[in-house]
Amino acid sequence: MKRIAVIPGDGIGPEVTREAVRVIGHLQETRGLEVELVDFDWGAEKFLRDGVTLPDGALEMLSAEFHAILGGAFGDPRIPTNKHAEDILLGMRRGLDLYINLRPVRLLHERLTPLTNRKTNEIDFVVFRENTEGAYCAAGGFLKHGTADEIALQDEINTRRGVERIIVAAFEYARANSRTKVTMADKSNVQRFGGDLWQRVFKEVAAGYPEIAANHQYVDAMAMHMVLDPSQYQVIVTNNLFGDILTDVGAAIQGGLGLAASGNIHPGKVSLFEPVHGSAPPLAGKGVANPIGSILTLAMMLEYLGFQKLSDEVEQAVRTAVSENETTRDLGGELSTEQAGAAIVARLGKH
Ligand code: NAD
Ligand code: IPM
Ligand code: MN
Repeated sequence: MKRIAVIPGDGIGPEVTREAVRVIGHLQETRGLEVELVDFDWGAEKFLRDGVTLPDGALEMLSAEFHAILGGAFGDPRIPTNKHAEDILLGMRRGLDLYINLRPVRLLHERLTPLTNRKTNEIDFVVFRENTEGAYCAAGGFLKHGTADEIALQDEINTRRGVERIIVAAFEYARANSRTKVTMADKSNVQRFGGDLWQRVFKEVAAGYPEIAANHQYVDAMAMHMVLDPSQYQVIVTNNLFGDILTDVGAAIQGGLGLAASGNIHPGKVSLFEPVHGSAPPLAGKGVANPIGSILTLAMMLEYLGFQKLSDEVEQAVRTAVSENETTRDLGGELSTEQAGAAIVARLGKH
């Protein structure tokens, strides 16, 4: 029995997570999927009510008692500092050492991409985003705060171990999935020190994978090429901040943030699966959010937990629902969040 912690979070998080949980329920009933779900109410409401973000002992509890975590989204306009999201989301990524942020970019249907004349097989790559350091290390400080001479320092940390393990993960993935090229994106023409480390480690690691082409692009050029010619990418590896930005571009070219999935992974340890999108406050409570990002995220979680066949079935059901236009408005359909989830469940069928 696999145990899954469910943390729906804020805004549209609960609405889309409910649909992913509905899919799990259906797989439990019809396919004998053996998982146990436990809900956690961590998020903006709890923080505003009790002052608690990530409760004491939460990370130890998750590690000891769960195999995976299904997250929704974190962020609320009533908390402009974003403190609770930082504590909960970045707290789990860093605290559980989830160093791989795996974000697939796959076009499910030709009509979804805003790019012209792109076939589904031309937008099909994965991004390995470093997920525990870089610009997300919260290191820095103010001098002369609030004065005209104010200085704000915002540091970026790149460790040899951190850079190496994400690059190795990207090459290992390429090898295991018969991908023939890994492209590393950095800004080493300006960021001399961190960039230099990424360059050296990338070359060293690549030497161990002679059958895989090791390619490099500056991140600004990659943002452009991702729009102009996404077919050149198979596996991308990059740092935390660049990976955040590039995967929103990736989400856009596959049809929008509403269907982009993501896993925060440390192989062999409890890992966190959450869609790429945020809490989308303007959409919250309206029943219009697209649940596909959350449902494809669930498919990634099922694969991680060893349920490969069920993961494939969920993905296929999503593909069919999309090609039959059984979608929310962001993808051109007319369904509510709940109806879109139900349509995918119906496509899964009873078996
Ligand atoms: P967002 O992802 O919430 O929304 C950006 C745009 O995408 C909006 O136009 C929204 O309507 C659209 N969108 C997002 N998800 C959608 C869905 N499921 N269906 C249809 N349309 C969808 O990003 P934002 O507006 O920059 O941020 C809002 C809040 O979410 C902020 O507090 C931010 O910090 C937080 N955030 C959290 C996460 C996370 O929890 N992983 C990720 C990104 C942003
Ligand atoms: C994401 C989000 C987060 C990030 C924010 C909410 C901290 O944008 O998951 O992509 O920057 O990683
Ligand atoms: Mn992001």
